[in-house]
Amino acid sequence: MKVLVAGGAGYIGSHCVRQLQLAGHEPIVVDNLSYGHRGSVPEEIPFYEANISDRERMVEILRREDVESVMHFAAFCYVGESVEKPIMYYNNNLVATMGLLEAMLEAGVRKFIFSSTCATYGIPESLPMTEDFPQKPINPYGNTKLAVELALRDLANAGSIGFAAFRYFNAAGAAEDGSIGEDHSPETHLIPLAIEAANGQRPALQIFGEDYETPDGTCLRDYVHVDDLSRAHILALEKLNEPGTALFYNLGTGEPFSVKQVIDTVEKVLGKPVPWESAPRRPGDPPALYADPSMAKRELNWEIQYPTLEPIVQTAWNWHRNNPEGYRG
Ligand code: UFG
Repeated sequence: MKVLVAGGAGYIGSHCVRQLQLAGHEPIVVDNLSYGHRGSVPEEIPFYEANISDRERMVEILRREDVESVMHFAAFCYVGESVEKPIMYYNNNLVATMGLLEAMLEAGVRKFIFSSTCATYGIPESLPMTEDFPQKPINPYGNTKLAVELALRDLANAGSIGFAAFRYFNAAGAAEDGSIGEDHSPETHLIPLAIEAANGQRPALQIFGEDYETPDGTCLRDYVHVDDLSRAHILALEKLNEPGTALFYNLGTGEPFSVKQVIDTVEKVLGKPVPWESAPRRPGDPPALYADPSMAKRELNWEIQYPTLEPIVQTAWNWHRNNPEGYRG
């Protein structure tokens, strides 16, 4: 199937492109390279440097490439930045997505796969989290993702599209062969920061809060390998034949790990200590977030190939060891 991957030069998008290729599909990448990396997309893949909000251009690309489905990863994803610059987040994550959907409808493309987030739930009342939990985001980033989910529901009700929205927990790791990986600028995610601290590339890692009501006082998260995430998207493609289909899935392993457990794992994989210091809680961090992934497993036959932290960190380290400066190197 010909699949347009918006944001296909970003972290999750680039891994999805590889998995699409492996599954025998034909990905086509659109990315404006504001955060993405040209080097993360193989040469043989059709690549368009374009904004998804450029409706005319998107219609032209969708038609020219005879696209059947769109996967959309082109969003800003920094919670803290979204609090400071909400208009930027609403424009990019919501308004531009509406432009992309409009272009799809004009070009007659009816299948859509959307990167959503567990941040649409806000602070859960219990754990693990299922798809029917109330959605009450606590920051603009989560609000923009929820707003798109609502629009998608309305479009499906109108019979215009069929879609799957995936609510990611903590995407982590890198391609098994170390060829592509995580390269955010600035980097704010725990695993790459811990690796860089252990590798002497940055000062001590700050642990944001050791006084949470969790077993070791640090936050619990559900780290899910980026290739496992990607494979779920491909499984969902098969289910979107009927316009009107509306699917929502949590994508996590269901296994929580604390910040200190992540640090221990990075130390074990690298064989080096992670220097760290205690820091205040980071505003907006829920104490614990982890998925009940049973719906995706049941309905999509999704199989998690990286159920534990150590092999996830190992792939992140493989990438980082070969590319200490990321794609710039
Ligand atoms: N952490 C630290 N020190 C750091 C960085 C992170 O202690 O330097 C802690 C955080 O406080 C959190 C955990 O490590 O407890 C994981 O933090 P990340 O920044 O790696 O990931 P988040 O859980 O904050 O973010 C993820 C996604 C977001 C999404 C969010 C939903 O990356 O896109 O989950 O809450 F919005």
